[in-house]
Amino acid sequence: MRGAPPPASALDPTTLKPFVDALPIPIVAKPSGTRTLESAGAKPLPYYRVEMRAFEAKLHRDLGPAELWGYGGSFPGPTFDTRSGEGFLVEWANSLPKSHLLPLDRSLHGSEDEFPDVRTVVHAHGAKAPPESDGYPEAWFVPGDSALYHYPNEQDAATLWYHDHALGITRLNVYAGLLGAFLVRDDVEASLALPSGEFEIPLILTDRLLEKTGRIIYPIATPPANPWAPEFFGNAILVNGKVYPRLDVRARKYRFRAINASNSRFYHLMFADLRPFQQIGSDQGLLEAPVTLRTLQLAPGERADIVVDFSGRGGEEIVLKNDAYVVMQFRVARGVENDASVVPARLRPVAKTAEASAVRTRTLTLDEFDDLVGQPVTMLLNQQHWCAPITEEPTVDDVEIWNLVNATDDAHPIHLHLVRFQILDRRRFDVSQFLMKRELRHTGRAIAPEPGEAGWKDTVRADPGMVTRIIVKFSGYPGRYVWHCHILEHEDNEMMRPYNVLAAR
Ligand code: C2O
Ligand code: CU
Ligand code: CU
Repeated sequence: MRGAPPPASALDPTTLKPFVDALPIPIVAKPSGTRTLESAGAKPLPYYRVEMRAFEAKLHRDLGPAELWGYGGSFPGPTFDTRSGEGFLVEWANSLPKSHLLPLDRSLHGSEDEFPDVRTVVHAHGAKAPPESDGYPEAWFVPGDSALYHYPNEQDAATLWYHDHALGITRLNVYAGLLGAFLVRDDVEASLALPSGEFEIPLILTDRLLEKTGRIIYPIATPPANPWAPEFFGNAILVNGKVYPRLDVRARKYRFRAINASNSRFYHLMFADLRPFQQIGSDQGLLEAPVTLRTLQLAPGERADIVVDFSGRGGEEIVLKNDAYVVMQFRVARGVENDASVVPARLRPVAKTAEASAVRTRTLTLDEFDDLVGQPVTMLLNQQHWCAPITEEPTVDDVEIWNLVNATDDAHPIHLHLVRFQILDRRRFDVSQFLMKRELRHTGRAIAPEPGEAGWKDTVRADPGMVTRIIVKFSGYPGRYVWHCHILEHEDNEMMRPYNVLAAR
């Protein structure tokens, strides 16, 4: 672990009594009427207004309140439960205080002294949204201001999420609580009879470091002028904003939308008794067929749609773990349920994007520069800073292959805005040869994506020492977007680049 060390006032969460808090289920956002927006056409669309506010909440029964920031004054924020093809408008209003809850690093790009402390911009992660509604990191606004965004929702059913994206302070804004779930549904999914209603629940995973008082701490590195730390790991794992929650379930199937909304933590989720469960969807929707798993790996930004069958388990208490850490408990009620939900053997066709359809292949490096004692100080994409001229300019509807060459020691979850893509393969290469001569020499065979990653993705784990190849069709809207590492500490320190989608010739 290379994050800053936790202060002495930090709480040891294992001293808390587990499973005393019910798992919170975020409320579903409700539109407050309809509106028109010129760029969204003449038709009135459902209109939501979501205010970002400071508030206090207890992250565990036996802790004092923590000061947090949240959409709609909650952490996580309200869930958007939406339908494909039914566009809507959201007015994102910044009603936060004028000074930040957490320590800023004024040396980071876009976070220098001339910029206000509190800036927010909202990105719906995985949404195919026009550029002016995508939450460009520089399109931030300050307390008292708001932005009206249009989500056309012209995309397949998927588990999306929304979170802050302000340049240089995303890690702090998200850590403070600015995140929530965003579901898109469609007819294909509705025809499947998957568990639904009260049997379909988001599991939004975040890790936090807590004071003994119950407040959240974001540890910083020394010297104080550069408090940025390359990674953050909290020892308390929260699900839907509670430490060690408990969900009372019935002895039947449940559908869970797992979202890794943590800054840096990769999860390896498993039940304590290693019982199997099924993954039915990845970042951008349903897999072709369910995959049976005992461990679910989720990198920051990734999502998994899973079904767990508690039938025949009446009276049991089942613990969900992340490696050795306890995450939460499911308490199964006695009695036999009449469960009409099914997980069909075929979910939805996922047509493979043919490599031959690609008009361009880009080789893009993931770079890390360390200081003299080996601490990473800057992370870059393709050796370019955020403000360097734009180098990735696909034309709308073009198919491209991106070779992500990871010459660093860490896995980086790489996310592209606007689009969905498929993973072609991962392949080991000679890192030292590459660093010396910029020559790519493969040292292993191509490894196919894992079954749970074989569907549509928007975030991909680029493993160290590997070339990860993805194939992307840039369908959507021409304009300015970004691609970046979803370790928020990396994203805030230059591991993010703008890209342009050009209009068709
Ligand atoms: Cu979830 Cu650009 O991010
Ligand atoms: Cu995104
Ligand atoms: Cu990274």
